[in-house]
Amino acid sequence: MDDRAALQAHLIARFGVDLEIPADVQGLDTLARMANHRTIRAYAPRSVDPALIRLLAAVALSAPTKSDLQQADIILVESPSQRAALAALLPDNPWAAKAPAFAVFCGNNARQRRLHVLRGRAFANDHLDAMFNAAVDAGIVLSAFIAAAEATGLATTPISAIRNHPGEVAEVLALPRHVFPVAGLCIGWPAHPGSISPRLGLNATVHTDRHDSSGLDAGIAEYDTRRNLTRPYRETRRDDLFGRTEPYTWSEDKARQYAQPERTGWAAFLAARGFVLDR
Ligand SMILES: Cc1cc2nc3c(=O)[nH]c(=O)nc-3n(C[C@H](O)[C@H](O)[C@H](O)COP(=O)(O)O)c2cc1C
Repeated sequence: MDDRAALQAHLIARFGVDLEIPADVQGLDTLARMANHRTIRAYAPRSVDPALIRLLAAVALSAPTKSDLQQADIILVESPSQRAALAALLPDNPWAAKAPAFAVFCGNNARQRRLHVLRGRAFANDHLDAMFNAAVDAGIVLSAFIAAAEATGLATTPISAIRNHPGEVAEVLALPRHVFPVAGLCIGWPAHPGSISPRLGLNATVHTDRHDSSGLDAGIAEYDTRRNLTRPYRETRRDDLFGRTEPYTWSEDKARQYAQPERTGWAAFLAARGFVLDR
């Protein structure tokens, strides 16, 4: 299959539509690879060269950064005891213990504050944006790392569950004030090819000129049906609380997920790390 046909096939699998690909578009190989992204949680018993991980970190940190502030850090967790300490905090993500390599992507607003000390200037932006900018930068670097890793044949799983116990994670990783974890990342050679996870239709997520959610409910229903054709849920969530629902759909699963409190201590954690969140 050539790159154009591959891209077309991946987008059909992802969005359920045969999208127009202009005749003269460049970089189809890259687009096809990105459209073929798959989170894969099982890894072959083969190590990943630390030099390759560092290379991917450098490529990922080449991503754009808000105002050139460079507020993302990557912690490569190499020591077995450090890996074990983090894995113990992630019982629902056994792939975090098993992945050949693991990294934690952090937002870092401490460096910026250090510049103010070094240059003798007041830091006049102690408000929510200080945390938010660093979180966005870390997310962008995470995404770039994943794309770079997949280009080399590696597979990854981001782990936001690292934020379930942020205080313990901060302690294990010796995070200073104003540095916070955004996500962990399992890295390894894939044990199986994985599969494309369908997304909501583009009319739910791409808007022209003005935000338009008039077709949202129909879009969710369409997605629920389309997704179950290729990715029916293998497990249902908390039937003990919610009973059985037929068919079991994405919208049901996500509504069940957030019907339960999740990470309610996050704001308190960030406040304890020195961030101002209420202005
Ligand atoms: C920020 C972020 C955090 C995530 N956290 C977890 C996690 O804690 N555990 C996990 O197994 N997958 C996690 N994932 C993977 C998502 O579940 C996955 O991306 C989603 O189901 C879509 O599948 P796909 O990436 O194969 O398209 C996370 C993804 C992102 C972007």
